[in-house]
Amino acid sequence: MTTIDLGRPVSGDVVDLILDDHRLFEDLLRQLRDATADREAARAALAAVLIAHGEAEEAEVYTALVRKDAIGADEAEHGEHEHAEGNEALLALLECRATDTQKFDDAVEDLATALNHHIGEEEQTILNPARTDVSEQVRQDLGVAWATRRNQLLEEGCASITKVRALVAQAHREGLLPADDEEEES
Ligand SMILES: [Fe+2]
Ligand SMILES: [Fe+2]
Repeated sequence: MTTIDLGRPVSGDVVDLILDDHRLFEDLLRQLRDATADREAARAALAAVLIAHGEAEEAEVYTALVRKDAIGADEAEHGEHEHAEGNEALLALLECRATDTQKFDDAVEDLATALNHHIGEEEQTILNPARTDVSEQVRQDLGVAWATRRNQLLEEGCASITKVRALVAQAHREGLLPADDEEEES
């Protein structure tokens, strides 16, 4: 399996850093659709950066933007809800044993739908207020905090199937995903 470079930014405007990762998600989704690509590598890379990116947003960015009145608590919570939906779609993809099956392709498309929706909405309703309603200094400080947390999670191997399963189970318990969800056995 080839190793895909996910980058380890350490500073910058938090909006630019997050946008760079969103473009990386799109590139990795393209590789997951490409039958000639190393899909195992693309899946592992997307899992890692997706979990690290979203957890770091929740811990370092959403909370700070709510505190600064740039976004409302409802927008932050909606973002967390969409992260949980993305993590659930990611788990289904990680649970596919083979990468050359219809089941794999379907799981990629479900994840792409959830992700494309989330990044579009996040860019409009969270990153735009971050651009206009907080200072350049705050965006730089949040950039360091977000990147540090993201990179630390990547180093910890945050996206093993066990860890993703635990995150999804936690989201069900917290009501971010339906409590009565019956996971399909496969
Ligand atoms: Fe994001
Ligand atoms: Fe997000």
